[in-house]
Amino acid sequence: MKLEDIKTIAVLGAGTMGHGIAEIAALAGYRVKMRDISEEFVKKGYDQIAWSLKKLVERGSLSQEKADAALKLITPLVDLKEAVADADIIIEAAPEIMSLKLALFREVDTLSPPHAILASNTSSLSISELGKATQRPDKVVGMHFFNPVVRMALVEVIKGEKTSEETMQLAVELAKKLGKTPIRVEKDVRGFIVNRILIGPYLFEAAWMVSRGEATIEEIDSRMRYYENFPMGPFELQDLTGIDVGYNIMKEAGLPIPPIIEQAVKDGRLGRKTGRGFYNYRDGGAQYSREAGARFDPLPLYALMVNEATWLIENGVSTAEQIDLACQLGLNFPEGILRRADHIGLDKIVATLDALYAKHKLDRYKATALLRQMAQTGQSFYQRSAEYKTLKVEIDRKTHVAYVTLNRPQRLNAINAEMRQELPKVLDELGKDPEVRVIVLKGAGGKAFSAGADITEFTQGKPYQFVELGEFFRAPELCPKPVIAAIDGFALGGGLELALACDFRLASKRSEVGQPEIHLGLIPGGGGTQRLLRLVGPSRAKELCMLGDRISAEQAAQWGLIDHVYENETFEQEVRAFAEKLATRAPIAVRFTKEILNAGANCSLDAALLLEREAFALLFTTEDMVEGVNAFLAKRKPEFKGR
Ligand code: COA
Repeated sequence: MKLEDIKTIAVLGAGTMGHGIAEIAALAGYRVKMRDISEEFVKKGYDQIAWSLKKLVERGSLSQEKADAALKLITPLVDLKEAVADADIIIEAAPEIMSLKLALFREVDTLSPPHAILASNTSSLSISELGKATQRPDKVVGMHFFNPVVRMALVEVIKGEKTSEETMQLAVELAKKLGKTPIRVEKDVRGFIVNRILIGPYLFEAAWMVSRGEATIEEIDSRMRYYENFPMGPFELQDLTGIDVGYNIMKEAGLPIPPIIEQAVKDGRLGRKTGRGFYNYRDGGAQYSREAGARFDPLPLYALMVNEATWLIENGVSTAEQIDLACQLGLNFPEGILRRADHIGLDKIVATLDALYAKHKLDRYKATALLRQMAQTGQSFYQRSAEYKTLKVEIDRKTHVAYVTLNRPQRLNAINAEMRQELPKVLDELGKDPEVRVIVLKGAGGKAFSAGADITEFTQGKPYQFVELGEFFRAPELCPKPVIAAIDGFALGGGLELALACDFRLASKRSEVGQPEIHLGLIPGGGGTQRLLRLVGPSRAKELCMLGDRISAEQAAQWGLIDHVYENETFEQEVRAFAEKLATRAPIAVRFTKEILNAGANCSLDAALLLEREAFALLFTTEDMVEGVNAFLAKRKPEFKGR
């Protein structure tokens, strides 16, 4: 089966996860059969979808027509046979009880068409075991969505022992089609990637520390939130998701439970949903001061999470990059756990684990062989990009193309103060690197190039700092090498302004661009008004800046704002091909072209022609010119060296 052959998706379960999956499937244009065991449950799920679509419309993320169309695509059902009989893929989102899921898989296997894929949204149960309950284990796969499904970008796609590569790829493609970022989990280990790193090494370890009297709940939460920049501390997080969730997973796995968690579950203090957890939500909820975290040392928590992540790499479950992306998108961890490990230093992490092991003699404190070996040989998980918190830099030395990824996917790559420091530095370095000829700027996470300046900083800065903000956007223009903005998703506000300062703007069909600052009572501050004026003329520039509406990539291309629009599926390849082709051209001549065209746009024709003449004559002194002419005469392809 190919992605295009999928027309009908059955979602089993209309609860929190089920109705969310049904909603995004309908939004992607699929016919959806949403089934639960009673009329009451399906109705509740259906009403929640209607509510959520209404919210999206109110927020301006969706048009009323699209919301209506999506709702029409969903059929709520109670009859299982009817739900799955003509489904091409069935996504099970039933409660996390193995016996229940096994029975469901057995039944669905007999009721659904033989070609159908059976996916489970389990967060902790074995895909291999579910596969064994069917006659088609090759077509059984894990698709672990995160709550709330409509908002969370991550999907873990999990391979069971017998899952075929074809099924994996189809699930990956489907997740993308649903607007999500899939991460492949190559083995169905307990907790997969996100929960494996989150629950034991982070949530439970923090609870062990409190249980052992080494720190208080408030100290740890305060540290992680205010100093380590996590969205919230581990105890507040457990209160939010339910203390019983991690408890059940660890209990099921036969792992020891920290006394403070055991006690909370025993007392029925399960978190917000019961009014009390680690904090009392009838009396102010999670409150802790910034000062509380000043002296807590988070290194043991980092050490355990990093150790677990290296276990995943060691066992072929995932790669460093994918693990970090999963942590960013699934947990909102600032730069990903292994990138942070590089910042801390692997030797320090191993020393922390060794000290913990010496003290407690527990297996979970044993450093993995991979981590120890990397620390001993002075390695890091990332080479160059380890220096940057908000960017990923990869250089393909064979093709001479550098890829710079704006790497804050959890904030749709919004440009914050750190990124404003880092990007000009990177472009400056790449500008000087003799092996780099072309730079591609792109966004992480599959949803956005960048959704603009980080709005959360807007109420904090001083006016003079916003002047500096404007300067940042000149960086691609000032770089001596061509910079391509590869727009896949949103390029809004500062995101679009950054792209406007690049030499080329290539976009995927699904992309949307715009200058929404007017909705914040602002105007574009990074050159948006002026670069747009020069690109699309005064009327369209005014329309974009005054109305603040988003326009499609195709419309932007018609207006001359985007240079090329490519199909979503082939976008990456097309960008690569464009960049690599550009990198084969004579580097010095390319540089001069950029400089004189940029300068020429701002000066008189006489001055610009003079610039062109000078540059033209100067190129006669280059070895590349001799190579170009010789290659032409010898009827071969030139090989330029940039000399
Ligand atoms: N600054 C800071 N955070 C931003 C951001 C920005 N410019 N754009 C998006 N985010 C954050 C969201 O707040 C959200 O964070 P949360 O998960 O903690 O709530 C996360 O990124 C995901 O965005 P979300 O709004 O949930 O995604 P969506 O698909 O519903 O909508 C957009 C996408 C781009 C339409 C919407 O995020 C948006 O309008 N962003 C602001 C764009 C803007 O005005 N830019 C100009 C700034 S000068």
